[in-house]
Amino acid sequence: MELKRLNGPKDKVIILGIETSCDDTGIGIVCDGKKILSNVVSSQIDIHRDFGGVVPELASRSHLEVIFKEIERALEEADITLDDINAVSVTYGPGLVGSLLVGIEVAKSISYVKGIPLIGVNHLEGHIFSSFLKNPNIKFPFISLIVSGGHTELVKVKDFGDYEVLGKTRDDACGEAFDKVAKLLNLGYPGGPYIERLAKDSKRIYKFPEAVMKDKSFDFSFSGLKTAVLNFLQKNKNVSKSDVCAGFQNAVVCTLLNKTICIAKKLDIKRIVLGGGVVVNEALKKEFKKQGEKEGISIYYPSPIFCTDNGVMIALIGYYKFLKKEFSDITLNANPSLTL
Ligand code: KG4
Ligand code: ZN
Repeated sequence: MELKRLNGPKDKVIILGIETSCDDTGIGIVCDGKKILSNVVSSQIDIHRDFGGVVPELASRSHLEVIFKEIERALEEADITLDDINAVSVTYGPGLVGSLLVGIEVAKSISYVKGIPLIGVNHLEGHIFSSFLKNPNIKFPFISLIVSGGHTELVKVKDFGDYEVLGKTRDDACGEAFDKVAKLLNLGYPGGPYIERLAKDSKRIYKFPEAVMKDKSFDFSFSGLKTAVLNFLQKNKNVSKSDVCAGFQNAVVCTLLNKTICIAKKLDIKRIVLGGGVVVNEALKKEFKKQGEKEGISIYYPSPIFCTDNGVMIALIGYYKFLKKEFSDITLNANPSLTL
């Protein structure tokens, strides 16, 4: 297949990014890796709410239903057509296989029909670099903390594409813990925003234990904390939900903060970059900023709309890969357990 528009119209590079790894259909159009021309996200929260979590079969069906409409909406918002796009980038893992395949097949079709490069993107790279939309000049190396509904990872980022995973969760992901504790308290789904809101009204914070790793590794564990909340609720009736939320949130933030600051100091790295849906949480950002100032470590994080899953972060990675001509071919397939 002959590829067109490798240099872009008027030397501009416009990337269409497609994100369908979980329950958000995200389409982003980004020019030259910095100018966001459009960002549309179709959320499936209403579909999965009654189940208290994402139902994979429903997620992929819903992506199928909305994806072309969302691409059209994104093109309209950017005031361009598919003929102006230089490459299409798409998340190919990690995530739900059925959901990933919808985005991948649509991206392949666009690439094939329009004769433009196809670029497969690791979803985790999207979360790592979404802070670059606001701060494009963050220096390497930096420590990245990814905390989302599906992932909790501490990563040393030496360069674009050069990663060392320092720690990850051994059980529940951080956002998953928020969702499960919210379920125990009969709050809504997804749980994070409900827990954060209630925690703000807390009068006294219950103390829940932070997980300590016997081998002193930088891995995380959140299932023990969730069980501690469950045991507490079973033993203590009529407790204040706000105080429980504040106690749980506090334990999560302390764990994340202590491990991340500790590894940054150990490796003598002065930059920490946060990413993923849990970074919407204001208490988390406040504590990181406070501790960062104390330790002389710069803390970076994306705007809330780019913390949660979106197509813009996938278009951004697509741009970096476009410059390096790291293209995928038509055999690109979903990899549900893709790592960094
Ligand atoms: O990054 P994301 O949109 O999806 C994944 O890649 O998993 O993250 C979604 C997760 C959910 O678990 C949700 O409860 C959590 O992010 N979340 C929050 C907040 N807003 C969303 N967690 C804590 N505080 C919040 N304000
Ligand atoms: Zn994500």
